[in-house]
Amino acid sequence: MKAYIETFGCQMNESDSERILYLLENMGYSKTVDISDSDIIILNTCTVREKAKNRLYGHIGNLKKLKEGRKDVLICVGGCASQDLKEKIIDDFPFVDIVFGTMNIPELPELIEERISTGKRICSIKEEGFDYNIFSVSRTRKFKALIPITIGCDNYCSYCIVPFVRGCEKSIESEDIIKNIRKLAGEGVLEITLLGQNVNSYGKNLDKPCTFSELLEKISEIENIKRIRFMTSHPKDFSDKLINVIRKKDNIVKHIHLPLQAGSNKILKEMNRGYTREDYLSIVENIRSRIPGCSITTDIIVGFPGEERKDFMDTLDMVEKVRFNRAFTFIYSPRTGTKAAKLEDKIQAIEKRKWFNELIEIQNRISYEENKKLAGKKFEVLVEGKSTRGKNMLEGRLENNEIVNFKGEKKLIGRIVSVTITEAKSFYLMGELSNENPVREKLIAG
Ligand code: 5AD
Ligand code: SF4
Repeated sequence: MKAYIETFGCQMNESDSERILYLLENMGYSKTVDISDSDIIILNTCTVREKAKNRLYGHIGNLKKLKEGRKDVLICVGGCASQDLKEKIIDDFPFVDIVFGTMNIPELPELIEERISTGKRICSIKEEGFDYNIFSVSRTRKFKALIPITIGCDNYCSYCIVPFVRGCEKSIESEDIIKNIRKLAGEGVLEITLLGQNVNSYGKNLDKPCTFSELLEKISEIENIKRIRFMTSHPKDFSDKLINVIRKKDNIVKHIHLPLQAGSNKILKEMNRGYTREDYLSIVENIRSRIPGCSITTDIIVGFPGEERKDFMDTLDMVEKVRFNRAFTFIYSPRTGTKAAKLEDKIQAIEKRKWFNELIEIQNRISYEENKKLAGKKFEVLVEGKSTRGKNMLEGRLENNEIVNFKGEKKLIGRIVSVTITEAKSFYLMGELSNENPVREKLIAG
């Protein structure tokens, strides 16, 4: 029996899909990338913006034909959109067999068995709850692992649907996280990414108190983990202590994803972000002065209700001042049930699109300029796979998360090598494998 899983949205969903695959494998399914060959199809969905939702409807709609041809194939829709839109999915797509929520993943095997034995369509959505082993997963890659450290979110940024579909914030016990990472290190994992909507608020309601910087420091002492990533950081909880830990530990990457969202204090307040542009700039200054070369990336929303041209100019001003290495930019998308969805929105969509394009143009220039500074320098690169940019080309990531393409043999995949950057593009780098620096290479290969 074959299982096809398609994942939309963020890394938390990717991590959930690894958990879903683990459960399916235990039921006797094996993974396939060919949907027409599958016995079960899982769509793990996203609803953070309207566009994600619309695309999802198209996707589910496309499965109708497949189901007509093969009535026995099970179609299951899980993830954040299920949580948000269960009635619509059940009503509009009668060929969907199971709709399950983000908190129902552990019971998926029972839901599948129930569907098969009763023949009845199933919709199971929990509103709260988290009581399962988060670490039982089938990892997509041998050398990289995603590790959730908090689930849900308590911040209620006024535009965001996440707290409604993922529930309130819960931290995983630090001892469990560390035990799991030790095990992964033994299995040859080189890079871990700690995941949470706001990793900086980690540990608030744990039995044994532990802050994020304490957790990070403990993890950095685990042998053989070469790279520790974490996301997402929230500026309102970003501490000086954390900067110190990142600074002093070699295996914590010098890359911080720190969503700004908006550059105007008026809009930041309306967004309920809990910091001002001055607070943000002071964090950036601290990072830059104490962690030289640290890359900072961000998320920015354009066209929040009430945002005027002068507010948007404040965003552009922040982009120029901070010089983000990269920014993920979004046009505001109203989400039903959030506070911002009730606010009056006077700016026309076409105007927002213009601002959006302006922002992208400026940020692309900055990303390119920052990338150009890397040319001629040598970096450690984790080789992730074959590159699509040419024959015998590999693709890997620098510590700052930028992608570099270079010539090399397939056997290097999953290893850390040295690469000299030869050319910068806006969206990626070109490089040359360096034969020097064998000490590090030997260390990793052993
Ligand atoms: N509209 C547009 N962008 C949004 N994001 C979250 N909610 C919305 C929304 N309603 C963006 C934020 C967040 C990223 C993951 O998605 O920038 O950091
Ligand atoms: Fe959404 Fe804000 Fe929570 Fe991020 S911190 S998930 S933007 S509510």
